[in-house]
Amino acid sequence: MSLQRTQDAESTDALLAAEEVQKYFPIRSGILKRHTADVKAVDGVSFEIRRGETLGLVGESGCGKSTLGKTMMRLLDPTGGRIYFDGEDITDVSRKRLRQLRRDMQIIFQDPGSSLNPRMNVADLITEPMRSLTDWDKTKRQNRLYELIEEVDLQENHLTRAPHEFSGGQQQRIAIARALSVNPSLIVADEPTSALDVSVQAKILNLMEDLQEKYNLTYLFISHDLSVIKHICDRVAVMYLGELAEVAPADRLFETPKHPYTRALLSGVPRANAERMDDRIILDGSVPSPEDPPSGCRFHTRCQEYIGDVCETSDPELDAVGDGHVCACHHYD
Ligand SMILES: Nc1ncnc2c1ncn2[C@@H]1O[C@H](COP(=O)(O)OP(=O)(O)O)[C@@H](O)[C@H]1O
Ligand code: SF4
Ligand SMILES: [Mg+2]
Repeated sequence: MSLQRTQDAESTDALLAAEEVQKYFPIRSGILKRHTADVKAVDGVSFEIRRGETLGLVGESGCGKSTLGKTMMRLLDPTGGRIYFDGEDITDVSRKRLRQLRRDMQIIFQDPGSSLNPRMNVADLITEPMRSLTDWDKTKRQNRLYELIEEVDLQENHLTRAPHEFSGGQQQRIAIARALSVNPSLIVADEPTSALDVSVQAKILNLMEDLQEKYNLTYLFISHDLSVIKHICDRVAVMYLGELAEVAPADRLFETPKHPYTRALLSGVPRANAERMDDRIILDGSVPSPEDPPSGCRFHTRCQEYIGDVCETSDPELDAVGDGHVCACHHYD
């Protein structure tokens, strides 16, 4: 059973949905630059994000999280599958429609220091999306600008300064104001706090939560850090090597993780009801190359619960294991 079908029964209020989405990056070699192989960064991913929720996307570095986020926003063209936004199939929409969709879907990156144009001041940075994506007049843009800086706790005297004059946390506030300026309904936040000190991280997460409530925002929140995911997410999707391993409501995922990969990731996170040290599962080695992923279950080369041939020959599908909880493993019990 695909995830799409398991979830459709429970909820029809999906703002964003993926159906078997793929994103391959071609590898070209030789002097003729012939297409010889592909980096299968995202390889058949189905899920949905419901209006107003925060869906966490977690997994080790290189698992395809950023590629999936950008593909869902149509910043990258999918290689296969379908993408739906608010019920509309946006997989191959026109450039014109895509530009309109930029208002509805905005992205915040990990490193605002490099994503914010150093030659623009704060006022220009925040108003730029309004100038390029809306037909709002100057008065409306200015009013929105002053609203936004108050919203994200910046001062009026910051407006004429350049982004490098700010701390990482303040730069992320500028990036958030910029993303919010055009009134999007969906924000993809790609490791938005990963470059910040822990104390600043909490402030930015709280700000994002307040803004979500105020503007009824839907978040796709990407992070490799499970403690951040736990803080902010309603549901969590665990990604491994281009595929989803497990999706569940956040409390279920943290209390009763089913997939060996999720369990291994969680073993590295301190928990209140910590299991004994000898129950810890160590995640050995690194993520294999997405150019030539392992056969069968992609996790089999690192799985400590490996149960034999079936793991190497058959790719497990996401199966329902409980309320809104799906897991792709031949041996989840
Ligand atoms: N533009 C690109 N061209 C080629 N390979 C890419 C490109 N972007 C990402 N990749 C590869 O795709 C895989 C997934 O990357 P990414 O989506 O950045 O993972 P994550 O965000 O989980 O760390 C990695 O192997 C990465 O090297
Ligand atoms: S299918 Fe097999 S290798 Fe894959 S996670 Fe489950 S037990 Fe491990
Ligand atoms: Mg990434």
